[in-house]
Amino acid sequence: MTESHNGHSTLPKNPIKHICCIGAGYVGGPTCSVMALMCPDIKVTVVDQNLERINQWNSDKLPIYEPGLDEVVKKCRGRNLFFSTDMESAIHEAELIFISVNTPTKTSGNGKGRAADLKHVEGCARLIAKIAKDSKIVVEKSTVPVRAAESLMHVLKANNKPGVRYSILSNPEFLAEGTAIENLMKPDRVLIGGEETEEGKRAIESLCWVYEHWVEKDKILTTNTWSSELSKLAANAMLAQRISSINSLSAVCEATGADVSEVARAIGLDSRVGSKFLQASVGFGGSCFQKDLLNLVYISEKLNLPEVAQYWQKVIDMNEYQKSRFSQKIIECLFNTVNDKPIAVLGFAFKKNTGDTRETPAISVCKTLLDEGAKLNIYDPKVSGKVEKSQIIMDLTSPRITDFPDEVKSSIEIFTDPYAAVEKTHAIVVCTEWDEFTELDFNRIYQSMMKPAYIFDGRKILNHEELQNIGFHVITIGKRLNRIGLRTFGNVPQQ
Ligand code: UDX
Ligand code: ADP
Repeated sequence: MTESHNGHSTLPKNPIKHICCIGAGYVGGPTCSVMALMCPDIKVTVVDQNLERINQWNSDKLPIYEPGLDEVVKKCRGRNLFFSTDMESAIHEAELIFISVNTPTKTSGNGKGRAADLKHVEGCARLIAKIAKDSKIVVEKSTVPVRAAESLMHVLKANNKPGVRYSILSNPEFLAEGTAIENLMKPDRVLIGGEETEEGKRAIESLCWVYEHWVEKDKILTTNTWSSELSKLAANAMLAQRISSINSLSAVCEATGADVSEVARAIGLDSRVGSKFLQASVGFGGSCFQKDLLNLVYISEKLNLPEVAQYWQKVIDMNEYQKSRFSQKIIECLFNTVNDKPIAVLGFAFKKNTGDTRETPAISVCKTLLDEGAKLNIYDPKVSGKVEKSQIIMDLTSPRITDFPDEVKSSIEIFTDPYAAVEKTHAIVVCTEWDEFTELDFNRIYQSMMKPAYIFDGRKILNHEELQNIGFHVITIGKRLNRIGLRTFGNVPQQ
């Protein structure tokens, strides 16, 4: 086979001229925006069935907050990047289609609460089959269970028209929210899985050609479809496992006098382990870790591998334990009752630099406190804006946590100013590691709070000694602090 002028053995000069991405969410939006920026010779159209979302993508206030995203969109929107609800035209003209729709955990039926719900992916396959008049490369971008490509192909083939052929690729996205643009511009690796047939290889080469516009060849990994699908689940499971491991050790630290930050540093300096993802916290959140772990547990059970399923289930259990340990400690330290007590919650997003609240540990902490009758003043730099307020209310009231959802609503107040949020509260609970929290004027805050004033630092970002000197009672994670007024999350309060 002769090499063509783009370096790939069987491809024409510009194998892909139009890309369609179905799903304008946290994955599809940023991924395709960067792709459009890096590939000016390709027209990229991101489509979604949600008109409001598409309107936001076409406005000055994008539907998601991600550092650097505004600039990228501004540079390409209207040039070679388009957001539209006209799925038909975009699918029709595209040679390559990304499926970037959500794959939430099933809420009913077989695998309820664990298996991934592929109804949106299936919906896309049916739509593509209906519209396509020529051959397409269909790429799974959404995180899917192993062998999902098989089901996708089944739906496409069963609805096929003469002369139309499909190649299915798996190309999972590894971006992390808050650093998405950086991750997309300089990925650690790009993973492309496909079939080993001639057609499959050509499809893989075409997608490689797209990424090679800006990613070095040696960072583009090609595998078989199933390895690619499993690698995405496995990568998230292993990252989550590191966090659960260090969080489990944080409990041991509190019981023994060791300091989890020192332990993490000592472990992380071993080059075989590495230093990243060893930050003990109130627990991990986000739309991926728990969902993918649950999915892995479910798949393992289905494959009759109960020991494997139990192993990964423990990673989730440890995360639940950590969130509940932290919440219970707040109640315990506040003299075993938070009934009618105003408490300030600083940070609601599942991590800093994002407005995303999916599976945020703040939900679990707030729900526990609300169940105990607390009044919550919530402030988050990106989630407590006018538009996003309703998100917090929805997160905390559905599914219903008490018989009186209205009562719950009246117990929550959302603030756009941190100083107003902490006024007259008994305690501050830090749930997200936003940088701006470290720069707050804690002398001023202390003056405005009820006494004794408590700070529960669920992210270990504050200067505990300084806070203690001001007069705060400080409770943190994975560290027993001996000085008076400074307590750990594992200590019983001294009254
Ligand atoms: C994750 C993966 O990192 C990414 O590769 C994948 O594509 C999607 O899922 P994301 O959920 O956006 O990304 O954020 P991540 O940075 O992984 O953080 C997840 C959660 O773990 C956050 O709640 C974060 O605060 C928490 N975390 C992270 C810790 O508690 N400790 C750590 O050391 C690291
Ligand atoms: P993710 O984090 O995986 O990107 P999001 O929920 O942020 O998930 O985004 C998924 C997007 O996919 C949503 O905007 C949703 O409206 C869209 N979507 C889901 N199903 C379909 C479908 N069948 N056709 C078009 N868009 C869809």
